[in-house]
Formats: sequence, C-alpha cells, structure tokens
Amino acid sequence: MNREQTDFLVVGSGVAGLRAAIELSSVGRVTVITKDVPTESSTEYAQGGIAVALSDEDEVGIHYEDTLRAGDGLCREEAVKVLVEEGPERILELISWGAEFDKEGAKKQKLAFGLEAAHSRKRILHAGGDSTGKELERVLIDKVRTIPSIKRLPFTLAVDLIVEDGTCYGAVVVSERRPLAIFARATVLATGGLGQVYSITTNPQVATGDGYAVAYRAGAVLEDMEFVQFHPTSLYLPSAPHFLLTEALRGEGGKLLNVRMEPFMSRYHQEMELAPRDIVSRAIFTEMGHTGSEHVYLDLRHMGADFVKGRFPRVFSTCLRYGFDITAQPIPVCPAAHYMMGGVRTDVMGRTNIKGLFAAGEAACTGVHGANRLASNSLLEGLVYGKRAGQSAEENALPSAEVSEKEKAFSFPSVQPHSIPAHDEIRGDLRRLMWQNAGIIRNEDSLLEAEEKIERWRYITGKSFLSRREIELKNMIDISALIIRAARLRKNSVGAHFRSDYPGKEGNWQQHTSFVKGRKV
Ligand code: FAD
Ligand code: SIN
Repeated sequence: MNREQTDFLVVGSGVAGLRAAIELSSVGRVTVITKDVPTESSTEYAQGGIAVALSDEDEVGIHYEDTLRAGDGLCREEAVKVLVEEGPERILELISWGAEFDKEGAKKQKLAFGLEAAHSRKRILHAGGDSTGKELERVLIDKVRTIPSIKRLPFTLAVDLIVEDGTCYGAVVVSERRPLAIFARATVLATGGLGQVYSITTNPQVATGDGYAVAYRAGAVLEDMEFVQFHPTSLYLPSAPHFLLTEALRGEGGKLLNVRMEPFMSRYHQEMELAPRDIVSRAIFTEMGHTGSEHVYLDLRHMGADFVKGRFPRVFSTCLRYGFDITAQPIPVCPAAHYMMGGVRTDVMGRTNIKGLFAAGEAACTGVHGANRLASNSLLEGLVYGKRAGQSAEENALPSAEVSEKEKAFSFPSVQPHSIPAHDEIRGDLRRLMWQNAGIIRNEDSLLEAEEKIERWRYITGKSFLSRREIELKNMIDISALIIRAARLRKNSVGAHFRSDYPGKEGNWQQHTSFVKGRKV
C-alpha cells in the first residue's frame, strides 16, 4: 500500500475545511482531500446566507440570545459566545479576501441584511441573491489556490483514521480505487453532514456522514446524534430532486398554505412562517397528515415577479428548469432532512478526545446549535470554528519524528475488497426506512422497528471496500444505527427531536447524549 506524509491533513473542502487549511498553511505543508470535485459540498449549495451581527440595528448579544432560544435549552453557551463574538471578524476577513455580499441603498454601498426564521433582527448577509455558499466556496478556493503549501487531492476519500493508543496519525484513503495511507502531525475532519441517510434531503450526494462514522470507529465521542434538523421547505415535484427553497423566501413574506389553499401557520405558532425551523417543519408535516397530502404550498405570488426573480435568481431559474414558474403558481413543498446538530464532540478549539484529531463545521458538535440550529448560523460556524480548529491543530501537532516512526512501523491490515451486489438497493431501503421511522416525528415502536431492520445489514459494516458507494453505505449504516440509538435513549421532545410517545420536555432533557464505540458516556 502506498503511503505519504504531510504536516496537516484536512479532510473535506467545504467552508470549514478550507478555512482550517488556510490557517495551517503558514506553519507547514497541508494536504486537503475531498471525495469529489473540490466544490461539491453543502457549502456550495447554501442559499439563504450567513448570519452575523454587523448591521446598525443589531448586536452580538442579540444574536447570542436568538441562537440560544432556537437551540431550545441545549446550546453550550461558551460555544455560542465564541460564534457570535468572532463572527464579525471572520466576515470582514472574508470580504478582504474578495467576498462580494449583496448591497443596498441608492449607491449600493451598504451591506444588505435579510431576515430569516427565529432571528429577531435582519442579520443575514447573502450573495448573488440566493447563492451565498457558492460565493464562499469561490473566495476560499481562490485563496487556497494562491497558497503553495496547500496540496489539494480531489476524488480522494477518507476510509478510516489511523489511530493507535488514543492518538491519530492520519488516515487511510482511497484514490482511484487504490488505498493510500496519509500520515500527518494533525488531522482535521471537516466532512460535513449526513442528509443522504434520509430519502428526502436537501443535501448533496457527498453528505453521507463519513466523518462521523470514521471518527466513531476510531474511538471518538459522538454527541447529540438524535438532533437531525428538517428544513421546512424543499421542492416537491415528482420529476425533480428535493431542491431547497430557502428560508429567506419566508423571510421576505412567502406564505404557507395547505392543499386546500388555507393558511395554517397561525394555528401552530405566533411567529407563523417565521417560527423556529423545527416548529414549521412539524406544522407542515402535521398539516400534510390532516389533508392526506404529500406536500403543502409556499405562495410567493403576492411578492411580485420582478422582486422574486431579482432577489432569488437561483431558486427561480432552478424551478423553471423543472418547468415550474414560482412567480405564477404556489410551489408544492415538503420538509427534508437538512442538517446534523450533533457530531464529533469537540471543545471550542476543535479538539476531540483523540490526540491529533480535530473536527470543525457540520462534522463537529461544539454544542453551538443545541437541539435546533438557528438558520444561517452554520456557514458562520464553518468560518469561526474552521479557523479555531486550524489554530489548535498547529498548537497541538505531534512531533514529526513520532509520525515518521509510526509510518515506518505501520503494517496495514490486508485489504479484502468485498463487493455487495445489491448495495444500491440496500442504500435506497435504508434511506426510506430512516425517513419513515426516524424522521420528523418518531416513537419507540418506529425506532425499534428501524433498529431491528438495520441489524440485517450489519454484516456490511465489518467489511472493507474500495468503491465509494460501498464505503458510503457502510458509513450510512453505522450512523443510522447511532441516530436511532440516541433517539431511543432520549425519551422526551426537545428542538428537532420530537417523539410522539414523549411529546414534552420530560426527565433529564438537558443532558446530552454521547457515545464512544458502542458505549453511552
Ligand atoms: P461541507 O460544506 O458539506 O463540506 C464537506 C466536505 O467534505 C466536502 O468537500 C465533501 O466532499 C468532503 N467529504 C465528505 N466525506 C468525505 C470523505 N470520506 N473523504 C473525503 N472528503 C469527504 N447554512 C447556512 O449557514 N446558510 C445557508 O444559507 C445554508 N443553506 C443551505 C442550503 C443547502 C441546500 C444545504 C444542503 C445546506 C445549507 N446550509 C446553510 C448548511 C451549510 O451549508 C452546511 O452546514 C455547511 O456548509 C457545512 O460546511 P462544512 O465545511 O462543514 O461541510
Ligand atoms: C436556507 O436558506 O433556508 C438554509 C439556511 C440554513 O440552513 O441555515
């Protein structure tokens, strides 16, 4: 098996990985691996924007309070404080690197701040109307390209971490169906989320939760895996993917109607369409049940065609590509799996319980989002905590000599590339099972049934593979089982985790759910 050594290994090239790589580039050689083309990430598809307390009407303290309120009692206050306090500096830095956020005013010189659900101020910066993530990726990738100490390896997939005696020395990866061991003085996991575990999701194909699975197998603590966020509005058209319809559409006045064309949000929350995301998703789901339909409608017609086209060009043109004019008809929408609040537990410096292993972005659980993420806080998290993980990877890097020794002594387990003939069918079955049994509303019976069914596929997780689809499936099975275990253990309803058999905040609801290698800790 081939092997190579670097100073810092960064896994993932979304906002968190790129920001960490930039931080590390002045102190050593950095290798950034990514399993697809460099831009393929949730970051690239982020629409609504990036929340930051920079407008005249806003304050860091108000952003802090809004984040805690959305998190429903489970945010780590220290982590939120870091996010909102360091956020403005990270955004100004990004602007100095060339980021162009939308502006307003007669001379278009003032940053334009949008409103999204559960924010008490207009504080969402956006770019190209609804292409904020694309702009972030552009700026960060352009920056990385100018830095000679950063080596980029696309189509390179992390399979497992190299961990001995509680210390991480890098990762075994697969590149062009060949295994390669990359040794490093510090490894930063920035592999993003796991939406693909669900059959209905806004997430891109790469979001199969690999980072959670490899970290778990290596002995990292995973926390709060029951908290999967479901976005209220994804496009529901039989012939189209579940394209996200940004929260900002409701922020600008979009209205929800059931299939009988009746407004319904006032029955669920005083903030109506701008209630926290979990509440809106459950309201839609309930309304779908009451009306026996698979969708509701999002109505923008009253907002004016020119405004909609100008403010949301990407949503407008994407829907038009599927033959749907969002300015002329109410849009069929349904909730979709969107974001993982839990993940690899880190402190506010991105440190995990494994020496030499750091995590940032959606792969990490700093506790910043609690039980329910406030809209548009995750791009900011990627910038703030990506930088912090980079800083602490530098400060806590292992000595080069120790890594070289490990590299020389390392003997690879023999790779028996198994192949599972019906793996794509199993993938589809797993995703549907997770949607039906561990989705927006769960209960003991549905979770237990899912747990038992997943056991049938357990044999897959003991095997090693060389193909991306099979490696992903193995990871998806591992993390689905963890989501279910965590959801069964939490016998109460908090934030995005709602159990119909325990609908209130009961018992020890303020405890976090943490696992390390099969044990609850
Ligand atoms: P990602 O951007 O997902 O990057 C993960 C990277 O890891 C990718 O490069 C991927 O290829 C790579 N990777 C994964 N597994 C492996 C592996 N095994 N080996 C190698 N590489 C691997 N948040 C906001 O704040 N505002 C928004 O407006 C917003 N809109 C969104 C819209 C959509 C459609 C989606 C899906 C999410 C949105 N979010 C938004 C959430 C936000 O985009 C993500 O949480 C954030 O971008 C995550 O950044 P990240 O760097 O952690 O991961
Ligand atoms: C959106 O634009 O609605 C997504 C925002 C987010 O997930 O933070």
